[in-house]
Amino acid sequence: MKKPEIRDCLQLIKPYEPGKPVEEVERELGLKNVIKMASNENPLGPSPLAARAMRDNVDKMHIYPDGNNYYLKEKLAGKVGVDSNQLIFGNGSDELLAMLCLAYVSPGEEAVMPVPSFSEYEFAMRMQGGIPKTVPLRGENFIYDLDAMLEVIGEKTKLIFICNPNNPTGSVVDRKNMERFVERLPDNIVLILDQAYIEYSEDPEQISGLNYIKQGYPVVALRTFSKIYGLAGLRIGYGIAPAEIIADLNRVREPFNVNAMAQKAAVAALDDDEQVVRSRLLVAGARFQIKEGLREMGLKPVPDQANFCFIDVKTDSRQVFQALLRKGVIVRTGDIFGQPTHIRLTYGTEEQNERFLTALGEVLAEQS
Ligand SMILES: Cc1ncc(COP(=O)(O)O)c(C=O)c1O
Repeated sequence: MKKPEIRDCLQLIKPYEPGKPVEEVERELGLKNVIKMASNENPLGPSPLAARAMRDNVDKMHIYPDGNNYYLKEKLAGKVGVDSNQLIFGNGSDELLAMLCLAYVSPGEEAVMPVPSFSEYEFAMRMQGGIPKTVPLRGENFIYDLDAMLEVIGEKTKLIFICNPNNPTGSVVDRKNMERFVERLPDNIVLILDQAYIEYSEDPEQISGLNYIKQGYPVVALRTFSKIYGLAGLRIGYGIAPAEIIADLNRVREPFNVNAMAQKAAVAALDDDEQVVRSRLLVAGARFQIKEGLREMGLKPVPDQANFCFIDVKTDSRQVFQALLRKGVIVRTGDIFGQPTHIRLTYGTEEQNERFLTALGEVLAEQS
């Protein structure tokens, strides 16, 4: 077939490898009761208030969404304590990452980002012909090296990504280091604080980023309804930033980028404090349960502030992944993050965590 060549910069994109769906594993391996602990979803399901709002609005779906997200914006502005012109919504925070690169990055320009971290940063940069400048996280606990990030900033740097808590490691940035970092950043660079997991953090020194935004620093805090509110399937996330940055992003936003059902659900979810408390409690309990279980196996996960943990299983994690699959437990392998002996585990219910621990114990015993 004759067709134009795909753009050069797209040749460098590695296709995203999503977590395996439950149905696929059940079908391929002839298993039942497969559990997915692979995509940092919420095992409690969607916020019940959001689910009711969706049911109540099914018969309004012949109408285009409100392109301005008016009700959601007003409600969130009140809740977060910012002006509504400091907010933007996306088809997942994924879309906001792409919009940031679209707005600020021309071919050949650069963004500084940690590694291992969320693959979307590199993807969104490559789509624009931008160049990711990666800075490794340090040590077995994957600590941010903010000084090293400052050192790689050059004349072509437009964006810096900080994922906090970081996916896939769960590690967080130290607050004092962050303060110094923000003060030393050149002011022609946008700092993106990806906070997809912020609600799970128990860090008393947690960095919200709102203080920087209120002081007018070029900082964007990205959050999502996918995780704590359990609405990953709807695709809705948001950004908080100075109004000037939001105005730039609105130039590259599709008119109806957030669907009407997602808007209705998100408005309702913002009232669902119980969902937040329940989900945080579940994760706090799971963190303890998993850590204890792993300790008994002689394994130590990276200390995390997220709804997942990163575990060095001290052996080829692809093999461990395959063996866990055969026992009906889906996790993520670390090789996709450049860490071939790690797995990433999303915390589940107490019963799911127990199944994972039993399965992992058996797999490691079989392999030794
Ligand atoms: C660090 C991080 N940022 C952003 C996202 C994207 O979230 P959303 O579902 O809002 O697109 C994810 C999803 O897993 C993530 O891990």
